[in-house]
Order: sequence, then C-alpha cells, then structure tokens
Amino acid sequence: MPDYQPTPEDRFSFGLWTVGWRGVNTFGSPVREPLDPGEAARRIGDLGGYGLTFHDDDLFPPDATSAERESVLKPLRAALAESGVQVPMVTTNLFSHPVFRDGGFTSNSRDVRRYALRKVIRNIDRAVEFGASTLVCWGGMDGAESEAAKDSRVALDRLREAFNVLTTYVRDQGYDLRIAVEPKPNEPRGDILLPTLGHALAFINELEHPEMVGLNPEVGHEQMAGLNFAHGAAQALWHGKLFHIDLNGQRGVKYDQDLRFGAGDLKEAFYLVDLLERGGYQGPKHFDFKPLRTEDYDGVWAAAAACMRNYLILRDRAAAFRADPAVSDALRASRVFELRQPTLADGESVEDLLEETIDLDAVGPRGYHMEHLDQLALEHLMGVR
Ligand code: GCO
Ligand code: MN
Ligand code: MN
Repeated sequence: MPDYQPTPEDRFSFGLWTVGWRGVNTFGSPVREPLDPGEAARRIGDLGGYGLTFHDDDLFPPDATSAERESVLKPLRAALAESGVQVPMVTTNLFSHPVFRDGGFTSNSRDVRRYALRKVIRNIDRAVEFGASTLVCWGGMDGAESEAAKDSRVALDRLREAFNVLTTYVRDQGYDLRIAVEPKPNEPRGDILLPTLGHALAFINELEHPEMVGLNPEVGHEQMAGLNFAHGAAQALWHGKLFHIDLNGQRGVKYDQDLRFGAGDLKEAFYLVDLLERGGYQGPKHFDFKPLRTEDYDGVWAAAAACMRNYLILRDRAAAFRADPAVSDALRASRVFELRQPTLADGESVEDLLEETIDLDAVGPRGYHMEHLDQLALEHLMGVR
C-alpha cells in the first residue's frame, strides 16, 4: 500500500485565505483566530506541500504603512526560506473593502476602477518580488444584481481595458508573469461577468496580449453552474490556457462550498486527476478550499493534508485504471481510439465524402459498451480492482 505522502515535486499549493479562513459566513462570526502567514508556510512545508499563495490583503490591510507591511513581509520571507516553500501565485483582493461594492475593474465609479488597477499593479510588483509566475484575477464583485444597473457590454469594455493595462505594465517592466482569469457564475454578486471558463476563453481572445492571459478555473465554480469540470479543464488544456487550477469540492448547484478536494463529486475528481496527469498540465495543483467551520486548527491541517492525500490516491487509482488490460479492451470496444482518426483521410476531398454511403440499418443498432467502461473506472475508483 503506497503511503500517499506528498513531496514538493507534487507541486501542491494552498491559499493563505484557505487554511487561514476564520469561518466567517453570512450568518456566523469567526470561529478561529487569525493564522500567521509564516506559520502557514511552515505547516505547509511540514506536510509535504510546495507552495503558499495569498491576496495582498491576506497579509496586511490596504492602507498599511510601509513599516507595517515590512513587519509582516520580513518574517514571512524568513519562514519561506527556512521551509523551502515557494510562492508560485499571487492574487489581489478587489472584493472585501466597501469601495468595491460595485466591482473593481468594472465598478460604475471611475475612481474605484483606477484604484483597483493601482492595487493590482502594486501587487504585480510584490508577486514578482516573491518569485511568482502567475497572477490570478478573480473579479467576484464584477457583476450585478440588476440588468439596468450595469451595462454589460460597456462593463466588458472596461474589463478588457483593465487587462490591457495590466499586460502592458508586465511587458514594460520585463516581468516573466502570466495572468490567469478565474471564472465564477455568482457569489458574492448575483451574477458575475465571465461566469464560466468558456466565457473567459472567448473574452481572452479580445485582448491585446491574449498569449499572456489564461485561466485559473475552479472545480466548484463550474459545478455551481451545473457544468462538468473535467470537460472544461480539458478544453482549457486544448487551448493551451490552463495556466493554474483551483482544486476543491462542490456538491451540486448551490452556494460555493469550497469543500476539500475529493469531498465533492468524487467521480469527476477521478477523471480530472486522470486528465491532469495525462494531459500535460505543468502548473501547481492549488487547493482553494474552506476547512469546515466545525474545525479548530487541528481540523484545518487535517483537511489540508487530506486534499493532497486525496489527489495522490486518485492519481494512483487513475494510473491503475489506465494500466488495466481489461480497460484497454473496453476502450477499444467503445471505439475511443477511433476518434483519433481524422474524419477525412489525408488527400480526401469533400466529393469523396459525398460519394460514400452508410448502411443506417447496420450502423444504427451499434452498441458502444460505455456502461462497462465507466463501471471499470468506478471499480478502480472504489478500490476493488
Ligand atoms: C472563491 C474564489 C476565491 C478566489 C480567490 C482568488 O471561492 O470564490 O475561489 O477564493 O480564488 O479570491 O482571488
Ligand atoms: Mn470557490
Ligand atoms: Mn478560487
């Protein structure tokens, strides 16, 4: 039995706002004391993790003086150096402060939009200082509750303008930093712009530097919209846009649960890990989850360890599935490999295609044996094969 012990080579990372989530929700006050950023880095390192990520405001309030900032940054740098934990990604809080009540990049107030851009640009400098290669942009407040209150087409103009300003800044500074957009359908706004991965992919094509902008899709966010995350991640990979990923769990179409990875739709998690491991995803495996409000810090770290352990178990189960000769036969029986063949052969013309006939009575009744194939996957997932 493998021990499923993570190592930094597995590239597991955690947001400071995840393990440091104090359990505040719409109805309840905090249940845990604030978590010191240096302590978070050390604990992640002890567990075999690789990275710590943060929002600017996870470290200090937006109006902190430079002395106050340094009093947090100095011990954090020391803890990172001591633990060997990296900062692969940094993100900006454009949602907590009251000024962002109508959005960051798309607030109706121009002064707020200009402040949002300044806040992100300062955070870009900090990201680069910490050696991060990805800046995540999650525009949770960039949305509306009323169609009358926000001109969506104009809001998209402003969103495009913001990303163009940011990519220009990164290029002018000569930074090696990519931007990853994180889609979400709703919460905190009633409806958020770029609600799904597909919307975001289309939007990126309208930017001045689309090559610098990709995606940070989150498992639960696509599932909140009833979508299949493994399919979405596959499309993001296909476009070369899976820059970063937020792994967590969600059970159905409801509020954003941010459960620990594996604790949501387990079958989709299995197929997702199978995809990431075989599909050439190179980025960190970043957990964006909220340890349950029932927990004290022992429970928080147990949940963080479980995120990594679940990923490694699923990786092992997916590899066993792929190595099983019965699965190879089943894939063949389901004609999965036949899909790799281009529909038109090399040099074939549309005329050739039009001349061909199909025996509908013979092909119509063809069975695809996909129930059997999927059952094999479930049995590997359940550990009985
Ligand atoms: C959510 C989001 C956020 C973002 C984070 C990055 O759960 O609604 O995932 O956690 O990932 O704020 O900016
Ligand atoms: Mn979420
Ligand atoms: Mn997220």
